[in-house]
Amino acid sequence: MKAVVYDKSNSPDVLVLREVDKPVPTSDQVLIKIMAVSVNAADYRSMRMGMIPKNKIFGADVAGIVEAVGAEVKKFKIGDEVFGDLAGFGFGGFAEYVAVTEKALAQKPAVVTFESASSVPMAGITALQGLRNLGKIQSGQKILIVGAGGGVGNFAVQLAKYFGAQVTALCGPKNVDTVKSLGADRVIDYTNSDFKAENYKYDLILAVNGSYKLSEYRRASNPKGILVMAGGALSQIFGVMAFGWLYSLGSQKMVTLTAKASTEDLVFLIKLVENGKLSPVIDRTYPLAETAEAMKYAARGHSLGKVVITVNN
Ligand SMILES: NC(=O)c1ccc[n+]([C@@H]2O[C@H](COP(=O)([O-])OP(=O)(O)OC[C@H]3O[C@@H](n4cnc5c(N)ncnc54)[C@H](OP(=O)(O)O)[C@@H]3O)[C@@H](O)[C@H]2O)c1
Repeated sequence: MKAVVYDKSNSPDVLVLREVDKPVPTSDQVLIKIMAVSVNAADYRSMRMGMIPKNKIFGADVAGIVEAVGAEVKKFKIGDEVFGDLAGFGFGGFAEYVAVTEKALAQKPAVVTFESASSVPMAGITALQGLRNLGKIQSGQKILIVGAGGGVGNFAVQLAKYFGAQVTALCGPKNVDTVKSLGADRVIDYTNSDFKAENYKYDLILAVNGSYKLSEYRRASNPKGILVMAGGALSQIFGVMAFGWLYSLGSQKMVTLTAKASTEDLVFLIKLVENGKLSPVIDRTYPLAETAEAMKYAARGHSLGKVVITVNN
């Protein structure tokens, strides 16, 4: 099969399209013919940090068709359309096929495209767990989403509206119209306006990107507000590691999100997509042969929603 393999010695690109052995599923695995795979920070950040999957193939969020099943597989049969996050199971999605435990997967409804389904797992689950599990989102709350233009942010805006919140979204100028169309009540373009200067207090802030001081978030938060730190620039992450504990000394709280793969959450999210209540936004699609370009584009950190690689179609 064709796969995009990490090869440190290759120049100018370390990601190379090669012929490799097609995987053979073990007894608890499903062999998926991959139709689409989306790019995540987990791919390009792991690569930058030298955390290379065992088979040297990145790609976590896949959608495809079951081509073979191991003897102990119970949930799926040949021909089923599935999707899931393979990051906890060795990656392997930038390829025509992958063998993975059935535990990583959920059924894809027929009406949802493979591209849309591949956009959902990591970004959707991060947004959902940030808002619902850590943020304890309630209907009517005022919510700020920082970094609303990207994969996680686009899902967060729509999910916060789904949960009945009043959503303010912070993003760059080229993403303003799309973020508005996703349902945000207020959109702040961070190049010409300053959320910190407003006298507007939030019950919940989901910080997906950017790099603001914790004291600035604190001022924008109501006295019992929660700040969920999901991601952002390295300076932001180091700031949280060093001073995060100070944030929660009073009645305001800061919590750091580490999203966990969950098939229950995959099913919850894909039902919303199926029913038209959640729309994955896809910025660009690339063929498998151009995966290195797709990774570079996503790693610039300004994509509008998701970057998707189409594989077998
Ligand atoms: N905690 C977890 O478990 C977890 C899980 C998944 C991802 N993450 C993290 O979440 C972050 C976002 O992931 P993603 O997949 O959404 O990335 P992405 O699709 O690349 O999105 C990045 C978005 O951030 C926006 N942005 C960049 N600089 C900004 C700034 N200064 N202020 C506000 N917005 C800014 C960009 O929009 P504009 O062009 O409009 O600026 C871009 O659309 C990453 O740091 C990732 O590592 C964390």
